[in-house]
Amino acid sequence: MPKPVIAGNWKMNGNRALLLDMVAALSRMNNSSKVVMCVPYSLLQTLEESAQNSKIGIGSQNVHQEVSGAYTGEVSVEQLKEFNVQYCIVGHSERRKFFQEDNELISKKVKRLLQSAIHPILCIGETLEEREIGDEQIIVCNQLTEGLKDIAFDDLRRCIVAYEPVWAIGTGKTATPDQANEMHQFIRGQLVGLTNAAIAAEIPILYGGSVKGSNAREMLAKSDIDGALVGGASLQLEDFKSIILSAQN
Ligand code: 13P
Repeated sequence: MPKPVIAGNWKMNGNRALLLDMVAALSRMNNSSKVVMCVPYSLLQTLEESAQNSKIGIGSQNVHQEVSGAYTGEVSVEQLKEFNVQYCIVGHSERRKFFQEDNELISKKVKRLLQSAIHPILCIGETLEEREIGDEQIIVCNQLTEGLKDIAFDDLRRCIVAYEPVWAIGTGKTATPDQANEMHQFIRGQLVGLTNAAIAAEIPILYGGSVKGSNAREMLAKSDIDGALVGGASLQLEDFKSIILSAQN
């Protein structure tokens, strides 16, 4: 089983003061899971400096797929590397929805990150309508296989997958632990098809969607849930700490 990963996705929230408080508190924790903070670009320097003597992983929420060039407002992998970024979310449903990111673009971003040895956190997940018509596995399988297309086995080992059912994001409505685990097992099966059983077993599959201190333990106890991608609760110190502590193995 992979080491549990608890990643916070601050989205377009937070500021330096909150980050400094958070990093100071999280650095003092004695946890066995890997904690990653995915902050807005503008907070990466503060995160890098404040997390220097801690085991907190430095994460971005996005990257541009090209190496450099005339892409006003965008940030490249090499620019992320300057802040020692080790993880980057790609394909979040909010980027798919509000910024029209499709599987083809997401796959380019995944490849670009892997070339620079940054772990992609590939987000996949169905909408409520897709679940209601029974298409959730088709959608998830498609997002996974397209997002990880043409990637060498050694690189796939460095990927993290996050299953985030869109209907559970920011809604307070979580998938039940069994519902989530069932999808994680399906994803694991697809990863076996893309790689082999040994590599698929090493790839962390995180659950995301209204994870809180109060529901994390039950979720993380499931066989194929290797961690969490946490939105709102990662901005609340006590809640985030409690999620991290739920992930001890
Ligand atoms: P919430 O935890 O706020 O539902 O957000 C989940 C998410 O989108 C993490 O990437």
